[in-house]
Amino acid sequence: MIKYDFSGRHAVVTGAGGGMGEAIALGLLEAGAVVTAIDLKPQPDSLAGFGDRLTYCTGDLADAGFVTDAITRAGEARGGIDYLANVAGVLWFGRDKSVLEMDMAVWDQVFAINLTAPALTARAAVPFMRKSGRGGAMVHFSTIQWYRGDPQPQDAYQASKAGLCALSKSLAMQLAAEGIRSNAICPGMAVTPLQARWDNEEVLKAVAAYAPLGRIGTPQDMANAALFLLSDAASYITGIELAVDGGLLMRM
Ligand SMILES: NC(=O)c1ccc[n+]([C@@H]2O[C@H](COP(=O)([O-])OP(=O)(O)OC[C@H]3O[C@@H](n4cnc5c(N)ncnc54)[C@H](O)[C@@H]3O)[C@@H](O)[C@H]2O)c1
Repeated sequence: MIKYDFSGRHAVVTGAGGGMGEAIALGLLEAGAVVTAIDLKPQPDSLAGFGDRLTYCTGDLADAGFVTDAITRAGEARGGIDYLANVAGVLWFGRDKSVLEMDMAVWDQVFAINLTAPALTARAAVPFMRKSGRGGAMVHFSTIQWYRGDPQPQDAYQASKAGLCALSKSLAMQLAAEGIRSNAICPGMAVTPLQARWDNEEVLKAVAAYAPLGRIGTPQDMANAALFLLSDAASYITGIELAVDGGLLMRM
């Protein structure tokens, strides 16, 4: 396992209440970072034991006022922000359908969480990255799903995640000269609370077999990629989409 040293750096992680965001927050804390974690859910037990290096904020990322306030307070309290991981996202099976038939209020809610919230977190965090004079890095969680069509669509999810990749690239170009990097991670299939529909061994086996590498991804697989892209080991990488999918894109 690669060891990183994020000592003395401050990272903001959304979606840290479970799944990939929890693994990323934990990885950053274990590597010495100060972390501000944001989620609707309460703090997971795994994040206990890091003393005042963790600030856990409970709130709704669809609330623009909350997002701006939480990040501004975090930046002021910690004297800057070095990293931003936009991990929170929603995939609402059953409600998020074809745009030809879905309730557009659901479309708006999904966009508020999956695309507007990451825009607002970046908007609030970048001034702190600029102020420090040492640059910064962001990762934004999209999905490989946005590369393809789906006969059983979740159009709001798909379009908002495509928008997130576009936003990441645009931020990367705007901020490159200031040493602030922005990259997107496109997970394939990973076992997290978001994929509660894979609820028995048979389904899990079939999903695993579909990935060329023969297994389903884990939150740790995603944390490995996120920590790499945030770290100085990726200091010459910006504006990319990294698929972390066990080779699934080769099937698409
Ligand atoms: N699990 C997968 O197979 C998969 C595949 C592709 C992409 N992704 C993406 O990866 C990211 C992480 O997914 P995950 O599987 O860990 O999901 P998850 O559901 O386990 O975790 C997402 C977290 O975001 C939080 N969240 C959702 N809406 C929020 C809101 N309005 N305000 C505050 N917090 C909110 C949830 O409470 C949850 O803790 C998501 O953006 C997801 O779209 C996941």
